[in-house]
Amino acid sequence: MNEQTEASGIAVRAMRPDDAERVLAIYQEGLDTGQASFETKAPAWSDFDAAKLERHRYVAADATSSGEVLGWIAAGPVSDRCCYSGVVEHSIYVSPRAQGRGVGSALLAALIASTEAEGIWTIQSGVFPENTSSLRLHAKAGFRTVGVRERLGRLNGRWRDVVLLERRSPIVL
Ligand SMILES: CC(C)(COP(=O)(O)OP(=O)(O)OC[C@H]1O[C@@H](n2cnc3c(N)ncnc32)[C@H](O)[C@@H]1OP(=O)(O)O)[C@@H](O)C(=O)NCCC(=O)NCCS
Repeated sequence: MNEQTEASGIAVRAMRPDDAERVLAIYQEGLDTGQASFETKAPAWSDFDAAKLERHRYVAADATSSGEVLGWIAAGPVSDRCCYSGVVEHSIYVSPRAQGRGVGSALLAALIASTEAEGIWTIQSGVFPENTSSLRLHAKAGFRTVGVRERLGRLNGRWRDVVLLERRSPIVL
């Protein structure tokens, strides 16, 4: 995808290896909320890099000044079975300082466009029910709730439910 500058002063562009430090720092800020994931520590860049599809990872940068990375989105395959080759799972993290101004929406739009352009038909994600901003963000982008998976895992000793969301592309047929 080509760089795209939003009216809000955000530029969404492909993630580069030199974004690694900032991407992982934003990841850690999100994990520290305790509402984003069962993970508590951001992975090493090599593990992140290996798990995410190269053509479906983007950052949103500040287009007006420093170009500072404000958030990122990336998707990885859910399975190596052929029948699921068009199904990916994504993660999205926006720096707390940049939330609520459309960064997440712009990143999600970029991922939807890039996956649909390559024939990927389903994007899925698991979200804690308490993460209302993520649920709202995804609902606005056309994700539906498949169901709530009860007490699916423990975070800091506490069982947590997970809302399974998916967006089935209307144009990949
Ligand atoms: C979830 C997250 C990615 C949303 O990113 P964002 O840049 O704030 O999202 P946007 O500004 O595009 O807002 C999208 C919608 O989310 C909702 N939203 C955003 N911030 C919110 C907040 N603080 N409280 C409630 N809803 C909020 C709004 O409904 C908004 O749509 P609307 O303003 O048109 O109603 C961001 O909050 C985040 O990174 N959180 C920490 C990490 C995380 O939880 N990641 C998701 C794991 S599943």
